[in-house]
Amino acid sequence: MYILAIETSCDETACAIVENGTKEIVSVIASSKELHEATGGIVPEIAARKQMEFMVPVLEQTLDKFSKYFANANYSRDDLISKIDAIAVTVGPGLIGSLLIGIEAAKSLALAWDKPLIPVNHLVGHIYANFIERDFEKNITFPAVALVVSGGHTDLVLIKSHGNFEYLGGTMDDAAGEAYDKTARLLGLAKYLGGAELSKLAATCDNNVAAGVLPRPLLKDPNYDFSFSGLKTAVKRLVESNKYSANVVACEFETSVVDVLVTKTVKAALSSGAKQILLGGGVSANKNLRTRLTTEAKIKGVTTFVPEFDLCTDNAVYIAAAAYFTGQSYLNNKVDFTKVIPNPSLGVMDKLAV
Ligand code: KG4
Ligand code: ZN
Repeated sequence: MYILAIETSCDETACAIVENGTKEIVSVIASSKELHEATGGIVPEIAARKQMEFMVPVLEQTLDKFSKYFANANYSRDDLISKIDAIAVTVGPGLIGSLLIGIEAAKSLALAWDKPLIPVNHLVGHIYANFIERDFEKNITFPAVALVVSGGHTDLVLIKSHGNFEYLGGTMDDAAGEAYDKTARLLGLAKYLGGAELSKLAATCDNNVAAGVLPRPLLKDPNYDFSFSGLKTAVKRLVESNKYSANVVACEFETSVVDVLVTKTVKAALSSGAKQILLGGGVSANKNLRTRLTTEAKIKGVTTFVPEFDLCTDNAVYIAAAAYFTGQSYLNNKVDFTKVIPNPSLGVMDKLAV
């Protein structure tokens, strides 16, 4: 089964075609990130206008690449369209103007081509990036614990079966990615989305002489909640004290975030009997987090799955995977298009408005 998915929740305009939820056939991404770097933060109006500008060219490229995939078959455009079984689209969370463009494009295609439409939660999509198989077959079994760490969210959920989640905990204030971005800005590394830059700087520190200086928020609390806004303030004070070089501050900040994320995620897996952990979201591209989670879970007999680097940040491949594994009910019961609307504040546990 081929699903064509569209993702436009923020500043990426992405389209992908995935076979049976696991095999990436085509992925196209256009981004307006550079424009937001210039303004030091995302301007929603500009992001939405760029989505509109990019949407049709991205769709055209996707269909061209799909045609090349079947190069020997010499398919007509109609033949290609008949190969697509469903259209999936991100309905939230995200910026309303950006989401609208993708949703209306998806509805139009579903209507014109007479295909089922599958609404997808972006956060669930991040988790399903783990199901894409490239070099090896992934044997993901349930129950599994999923940690979603993105720019706007930090959520820990127990997956009992496809689409059947139990909420374990989440951030009470800033998301992990947000803390990374704000700290990167404070250190003058990037004005917008500085997580990767901060992490690169942290990697240049081979002796963390500030070890333990920053707090490990809620580390010892018995629940699975997180809080990163106090950490951000503590980093600010540390920088202002001028006691440590920037790479030491970056290293101590990253160690604090990773300590908390890894400890709570492994604990959640052990107490819920999950034998597998799925990491997802933009921050899952963080090498330190990937390595420590994998190593520390393994010691306890738990296997960790992490998405390939290019599948950590926003793309439409994982939206198609999530649609395949969690949206099969939409194949036979066609959704009422008027109910597929953007939901900017959709949470990981929220039911889609259908
Ligand atoms: O999932 P994502 O692409 O967008 C949202 O859905 O929010 O996540 C973006 C977040 C940003 O906060 C970015 O700084 C962070 O992921 N990020 C990283 C790394 N790469 C991206 N944070 C830490 N280390 C990285 N290597
Ligand atoms: Zn995302």
